[in-house]
Amino acid sequence: MGFLNKHQILERSPTLLLVGSLIVVSIGGIVEIAPLFYLENTIEEVEGMRPYSPLELTGRDIYIREGCYNCHSQMIRPMRDEVERYGHYSLAAESMYDHPFQWGSKRTGPDVARVGGRYSDAWHVDHMSDPQSVVPESIMPKYAFLSDVEIEGEYIQDLMKTHRFVGVPYTDEMIEQGPADFLAQADPDSDFDGLLERYPNAVVSNFDAQSELTEMDALIAYLQMLGTLVDFSTFTPEASR
Ligand code: HEC
Repeated sequence: MGFLNKHQILERSPTLLLVGSLIVVSIGGIVEIAPLFYLENTIEEVEGMRPYSPLELTGRDIYIREGCYNCHSQMIRPMRDEVERYGHYSLAAESMYDHPFQWGSKRTGPDVARVGGRYSDAWHVDHMSDPQSVVPESIMPKYAFLSDVEIEGEYIQDLMKTHRFVGVPYTDEMIEQGPADFLAQADPDSDFDGLLERYPNAVVSNFDAQSELTEMDALIAYLQMLGTLVDFSTFTPEASR
């Protein structure tokens, strides 16, 4: 077999083998990396996605601070068991405003990418305060203290500006109205028309049912929007259009 004999030349010379491997690996590298330089965007744009509202953004910070991602993923894989349990598989666009993304790598608890609207606010308050009171076998820690920590949104504009700095399209108007929107979302008696115009489909509610605005409100505002922005009854992937 002449072909196999020629292969011996490569295998017997470490230098030749190294040069040969480098050539093969760089072809693979170029094919994968080169398109990224001329593609404007690698994320397919999807209708409905918008930046987080000020209160949701704060809730997201609390989610990160408490390390919820250590037990919860936000990435539904396109496998049958996950899609049947959690809903449509996650789209890249659904985390396009996440800095950093919250896909997670540990699935001790359920995936929460589409937990928004699945439970009532009251359920979340009970569950966050004492998970075992709702799901007796749960190993999730208690976060009751979140209901005692009042928040005022004094840094919300800085937080929004920081996200704008890394590419989230917050407008000047959104940042200017940030503190007002922050309060309005947790107060159903407020004038929240502007908030809904800037952040369509935002859930307005007194999430933790207390008169004070607390970290619990912000966290639940965040949980209740997760996975609710894209309307999957009308969504078709670009590839199959
Ligand atoms: C030690 C691991 C762990 C940590 C940390 C953790 N959870 Fe959980 N979580 C679980 C487990 C396990 C369940 C499933 C049982 C239950 O519902 O309590 C769960 C359930 C949930 C559910 C219900 C999901 C569903 O679809 O039924 C939500 C919402 C949730 N967690 C939010 C959070 C948030 C927010 C944080 C951070 C403040 C957090 N969890 C931190 C383990 C954890």
